Amino acid sequence: KQQGLALTPPMGWNSWNKFACDVDEKLIRETADAMVVSGMKEAGYEYIVIDDCWHGERDSLGFIHPDPKRFPSGIKALADYIHSKGLKFGIYSDAGSETCGGRPGSRGREYQDAQTYASWGVDYLKYDWCKTEGLKAEGAYMTMRDALTAAGRPIVFSICEWGDNQPWEWAQDVGHLWRTTGDIYNCWDCVYDHGTWKSWGVMQIIDKQDGLRKYAGPGHWNDPDMMEVGNGMRTNEDRAHFAMWSMLAAPLIAGNDLRTMSKETREILTNKEVIAINQDPLGIQGFKYSAQDSMDVWFKPLANGDWAMCVLNRKGTPQKVTFDWSKHAVSDTIFNHQLKTTQTKYKLRDVWAKKEIGTTAKALKAEVPAHDVLMLRLSSSKPAN
Ligand code: GLA
Repeated sequence: KQQGLALTPPMGWNSWNKFACDVDEKLIRETADAMVVSGMKEAGYEYIVIDDCWHGERDSLGFIHPDPKRFPSGIKALADYIHSKGLKFGIYSDAGSETCGGRPGSRGREYQDAQTYASWGVDYLKYDWCKTEGLKAEGAYMTMRDALTAAGRPIVFSICEWGDNQPWEWAQDVGHLWRTTGDIYNCWDCVYDHGTWKSWGVMQIIDKQDGLRKYAGPGHWNDPDMMEVGNGMRTNEDRAHFAMWSMLAAPLIAGNDLRTMSKETREILTNKEVIAINQDPLGIQGFKYSAQDSMDVWFKPLANGDWAMCVLNRKGTPQKVTFDWSKHAVSDTIFNHQLKTTQTKYKLRDVWAKKEIGTTAKALKAEVPAHDVLMLRLSSSKPAN
């Protein structure tokens, strides 16, 4: 696959969660504008990705064209506009004969489509898995990977087969991120049964990440799906969702309407201290340290000996947490990092309240509101001697 891309989890916006098939060039242009004006670009968001349903027909030579009613100026012009704003442009296709929305898939046309995308200025491809009867996932994704490489433009390759074929085991050299689950939806703790498939609430998605962290790192990320921040959950739930995606070193792909989002939503999506935890250069996915009474405690090793800690209250009522550092040996046995609270006094900074709350010399005592988090950065920086 193309090297040097997605060295930290990709950040951007994708049309699907909010707009589904209701996409057109006006929406995408206005979203690019909003990305800049809202401060999201400045906070690190980069990719504007059109998901399913941008497609029109293939022509007699097999070249794919956008829906002429919805994208009358063509995709190249749209990509140029997005690039003119200092942003990058992503598109969507499918390894099978049709996309999940019933549009033309790339099966048998992989090299031609990759060439077309490169000629349009595409920087990111999300590649789905509907209508793939008879295909093997690993091979199908390798074909498109090779086609993208041959097309000669750096393109982040996002694998979307919902974790059905254990992509974490083979996708490290195929794509830059891979979905680990079925589709998310804007609910805290729910399962929505569509009959032949299910969509999952935020808690369900988090619980499906168990055991996968060893597969993630710079250039190859577990993708627990795009975010639902600003799509209808409560502000505290959105905050916890964003915090946990940051702990998981997940791609931060916003899925809300950036043009009309509330101040609360914007403040969540642009919290630089939380984003810094997600974008930490070590690229280590956090782990669940303990789970008791619907309170999860998560840790994530960061560069320069820092750590992030997130206490997640899954319950609908506030809960108290006490964490006596001297009684815990927090250790990341996979990536080999230890929280050395016996030798080092770490400063504790609440990254949502944006204030220092003490050090690890004293037990942490706090109350976490319902469906919310306490998220801390532990910093070990010793004074110069
Ligand atoms: C699948 C994917 C979604 C979205 C839709 C589009 O369900 O998992 O993220 O891309 O297809 O139809």
